[in-house]
Order: sequence, then C-alpha cells, then structure tokens
Amino acid sequence: MPQSHRFRRVVASLLASVCLGAWAGEVEVLHYWTSGGEAKSLAELKGMMAQRGHSWKDFAVVGGGGQNAMDVLKARVLAGNPPAAANIKGPAIQEWASLNVLSNLDAMASFDRWDEVLPKVVADQMKYKGRYVAVPVNVHRVNWLWANAEVLRKAGVNEAPRNFDEFFKAADKVRAAGLIALAHGGQDWQDFTTFESVVLGVGGPKFYDSALVKLEPAALGSDTMRRSLDTFRRLRGYVDDASRGRDWNVTTELVIQGKAGFQFMGDWAKGEFLAAGQQPGKDFRCFPAPGTAEAFTFNVDSFAMFQLKGWEAQKAQGYLAFLLMGKDFQERFNLRKGSIPVRQNVAMDKFDECAKVSSGDFSKAAKAGTLVPSVAHGMALAPGQQAAMRKLVSDFWNNPQLSVNDAQKQLLALRPAH
Ligand code: GAL
Repeated sequence: MPQSHRFRRVVASLLASVCLGAWAGEVEVLHYWTSGGEAKSLAELKGMMAQRGHSWKDFAVVGGGGQNAMDVLKARVLAGNPPAAANIKGPAIQEWASLNVLSNLDAMASFDRWDEVLPKVVADQMKYKGRYVAVPVNVHRVNWLWANAEVLRKAGVNEAPRNFDEFFKAADKVRAAGLIALAHGGQDWQDFTTFESVVLGVGGPKFYDSALVKLEPAALGSDTMRRSLDTFRRLRGYVDDASRGRDWNVTTELVIQGKAGFQFMGDWAKGEFLAAGQQPGKDFRCFPAPGTAEAFTFNVDSFAMFQLKGWEAQKAQGYLAFLLMGKDFQERFNLRKGSIPVRQNVAMDKFDECAKVSSGDFSKAAKAGTLVPSVAHGMALAPGQQAAMRKLVSDFWNNPQLSVNDAQKQLLALRPAH
C-alpha cells in the first residue's frame, strides 16, 4: 500500500478513535531535551499522549544542541531500527527525507489545514518535494541576552544594552561588582550561538544573510566581519575560567543564582528561569542581543516521523503528529519551553512579556524581511557546512593565537567550490 494511503488510513481511524476513544499504541521518540525546563516541557507531551492511552518510549540523548542525538539516530536508522519520531530540524529534514525513510504526513496536514496556520518559512522547511514529512512544535528566538535583574540593580546597569559598546560598559560594571560579567558555556554550539548574535548585532540582518547563510566572499572578507570577529573575541575577556565544556543550562544557573550578570542564548534558557520559579521583569530580564532588536533569529524544533511497519505503531505515530500541531499542546508545551507557538492561531494571553515580545517581533520581522535563520541551530546550512563553521568559530573563541585574518581566511574557505 503506497505510503500516503497508509497515512490517509491513519487519519480516518484517528477520526474514528476520537469518537470511539478506543485506540492505544506506543511511540518511541528520540530527542535531546534533558535540561530541567526541557524535561518539564516534554512531560506535557508525554502526559497528553498518556491521556489518550498511548505509551511513550523515551529515547533521550544527552547533549544540548542535538549533535549527539543525530549521531545516535543515524546509527539506529542504518541498523533498520528507527524510532517513531525524532527531533530533526531545518535542512537536515531534506537530507533524511531524501533517504526515503520518513512518513508522508500530507493527509494529516490537509485534514488539519497546516498550510493555513503555519508561517510559510516554517511550512516550507517541513516539506520534502512539496510533501510534509515533519511537524513543527515551536519558534525559538536565538538572538536574546538574558540578565539577572538583581545583579543589574547592584551593578548600576539601568538600561538594556542597545549595541556592543553599551554591552561592554554594562559588563564592566557587573565585573566591578565582583560578579561574572558573561556566563558562557564553552561548547562549540554555544560559542556559535553567541557568534551569530554578534554578527547580527554588528552587521545587521542583510549582512548576516550574506555572510553566514549565503557565505558570500565579499561579506566573509569584509571589514564588518573583521569587526564581528573582534567583538566576539573581546567577549571572551568577560567569561569566567570555569566556562570551558560547561552545559548551557548549568551556565544559565549562574545567572539564575545571581553569580553572573548576562548570558547570550536562545529562549530555551527562559525555560530554565521559569523551571526555577523565576519571573520575567522581576527576577530576570530578556533583552534582544545588542544591536539586534529589529531582527529575529529563528530556530524551529520539529519532529520527523519515520516509516513504521506495525499498524498500531502507525496509528500512535499519527496521533502524535496530530497532537503536536494541536492548539492545546502548542500552548502547554511552549509555556514551559520558553519558545512561542508556531501555529499562528494560538492565543498568547497566557504567555509572559518575553514571549509576547518574541511573538510581536517575529511577525514584524517576517513583514520587514529581517527574519533570519539560526545558522548555529541548523536552520540554514547543510549539516556538513554547519559543522565546519561551528568548529572554526569555536577554535577562534578558544585559541587566541588564531588571528582575525586567519579566521577570515578559513571562513572564505568554507564556500563550496562552484
Ligand atoms: C536547540 C534546540 C532547542 C534547545 C537547545 C538546547 O538546538 O532547538 O530546543 O533544546 O538546542 O539544547
């Protein structure tokens, strides 16, 4: 039976079970959401699946950013033992779909009108050759700067730093107060996350696109890239000695506890503040990364559904896909995860001020053309190129011997030979 027919059958029996309620199966989900806030967000999904009588088989792979998870997933698929679903996103979805291992979700997508409720930039990412093969669950904003409100008060920092000059003045004050100015986790994907916000803040969205997405030599070899690399290197001087190798959420903990003033990170960090019972505005602040208020770096988490044999497993997988795009899940999950719903018709009234700013800025940026894909989080480059740029940026962060000139030469060498 052709693949798409199978999913049409899933949708038909989904409708039947919603009426009859008699339907249970197991879904095994591979993911890397193991931090406090991430685990609480995922617990919402597990609970909603259980409510429907489905059992959840957890396949968690530790390692923020998800590289370890992708390596484990490759091994499982090659061994012919794929999970029902896995957290795969951006251009990597195309690579997996081209192996003909993903389910065609079109029947579900048309039944639930996904094209009408998803931003086009996201819907396009979820499709392979025009067919849905993945389900988006959120929109994370990456270009954030988090701060401990009490530390800022103590240090006499009263304004959000609007550019990097203002940031360094604020960081000097926090350091003068005897605290860690910049909490940074020294892992390559975290180095890369900070770097892309610096490039956006120094050069703006058009430059970001030319340099980091299109890898244009004129942009990579430009003065603006020099200033970005200089600024990035200067940040290194505000980080504590215990930074190297530290996980992102352990690093956020330093800001939560008031041991550090600032952290550059996507809004999954907000999930940690909330999980610690803290409130935006009162305990912590969410500022656009310096110089990036008019832009929005998006990172969309999504689940790709693997082709499965057993009918029971296919039905449970179908229900998972239906649930993930549902309004109820989109609200409950994103209230905890720190991101905003990707489904455009979910009410934002229960969300906090950071989420409301994010949602407003997402729509504004989409209209203004200042919405940019996160390169560090797999929204723009093919996985191989992304890995090469991540390594280069992290080497530059960790090795003071590597000059700005060297780094620019290496960036220019990233371009695929035409
Ligand atoms: C991102 C992912 C987020 C968050 C973060 C830290 O790549 O999209 O959901 O989990 O890594 O692990």
